Amino acid sequence: MAKVSKIKRYRCADCGAISLTWTGRCQTCGAWGTLYEEREGASGSPKSQVKKLLLSEVGEVKRFSSKITELDRVLGGGWVEGAVVLLSGEPGVGKSTLLLQSAIAMAEEGKKVLYVSGEESASQVASRAKRLGAKDGLLFLLCTDDIDEALSAAEDVEFLFVDSVQTMRDKNESGWPGSPLQVRLTAQRCIEIAKSRAIPCVLVGHITKSGQIAGPKLLEHMVDVVMFFEGDRSSRYRMLSAEKNRFANADEVGIFEMTERGLVPVFDPGRMFWNETSLKEAGVAMGVVLEGSRPLVAEFQALASSTPFMYPRRTSRGIDLNKLHLLLAVLEKRAGLISKNCDVYVNVVGGLTTKDPGADLAICMSIASTLLDRPLPKECCFVGEVGLAGEVRPVARTALRIKEAERMGFEKIAVSRYEKCERSGKIRQIEFESLKEAVRMMFP
Ligand code: TYD
Ligand code: MG
Repeated sequence: MAKVSKIKRYRCADCGAISLTWTGRCQTCGAWGTLYEEREGASGSPKSQVKKLLLSEVGEVKRFSSKITELDRVLGGGWVEGAVVLLSGEPGVGKSTLLLQSAIAMAEEGKKVLYVSGEESASQVASRAKRLGAKDGLLFLLCTDDIDEALSAAEDVEFLFVDSVQTMRDKNESGWPGSPLQVRLTAQRCIEIAKSRAIPCVLVGHITKSGQIAGPKLLEHMVDVVMFFEGDRSSRYRMLSAEKNRFANADEVGIFEMTERGLVPVFDPGRMFWNETSLKEAGVAMGVVLEGSRPLVAEFQALASSTPFMYPRRTSRGIDLNKLHLLLAVLEKRAGLISKNCDVYVNVVGGLTTKDPGADLAICMSIASTLLDRPLPKECCFVGEVGLAGEVRPVARTALRIKEAERMGFEKIAVSRYEKCERSGKIRQIEFESLKEAVRMMFP
């Protein structure tokens, strides 16, 4: 029999560090009240053995389609047997709606699907399901916050949804639902059942005000797939992206529109994030950003207004504020466009958030346009990364971006002179080496 250690060990529910004494604060991560006594069972499990790695042992990944095309795209083909997916996002973004839609669709295919809701009552879930056009009596529903109840109900199902991991509670342990310990324990129990029964399990996760997944940091490491559902409240569009995916490429993005009857996948997001109306104003520049493998034409708007204050405001929506600071510094140093007496606001239209460095040139051109108060030619799009030396650098998948700009009816596209992609199609390519050159050419 495996030896079981008699020494008490305490594990931090937040960072997973082990300590031999209990302290109110974890010595490793500094979190308060997260240490709990680790049960002996874990250390008494059978010893693992070292063996040679055999490629023949590769198991086949069995997938189920989620019945929602854009969700399948992000998952890499569908839910995976035995895999645990964590879906996070702000309250009201549509997490429960998306999962209920998938649960309903799979139940209608004849699968035994259990939807556990710790947040809503049966009548609330029923009214949502009705709105989503569900057929009667196919989906199994359990409204509880007790993880034991939830998991015993999941004994013979083929699919498990838990909405949400922060509302579930293990009654045998201390702590409120949502505390690092409880989140960790409930997630661990769900993972165990998903692995032992080889069923897919989806957990909804809340996020904190700063945008982090609520609960222990370990949660993201414990699950197989971490997805984020985002979207501006004022916009109908929602974007689903995978931050981690153990079974597929993690950089795909799914786009949805929130409608009266739930979330509808957007097949052609071509004109979602821009329209022709504002193209003639100063401060507007069009770019083509890459979201996953998909190019999207995006509209960048900047507004600079003079300020009498010592510390001008810089505000950004849709791009990182630090990126805005950096690009303003590059514009000043490398292209001579001074903004130190102006408040500068930058916005990406339609609630799009992008981290793509290929947007740099379009952002810079929108700022240059507002600072000079001269509009850009409306038929032109900008693609390129801007370096600290003021150089315009090549970016990933330029050919794809050029094709999309052409498809959307743009006549010209400005790219880095060092792009190696072949010229193709009717769209005219303008090439820049530096930001200075771009500003000089666009605002002669
Ligand atoms: P919900 O899925 O409850 O969000 P979350 O679980 O992320 O908190 O979505 C709530 C919002 O979606 C709510 O404001 C209403 C809206 N909604 C629609 O517009 N259409 C619909 O068909 C449904 C079900 C919800
Ligand atoms: Mg919800």
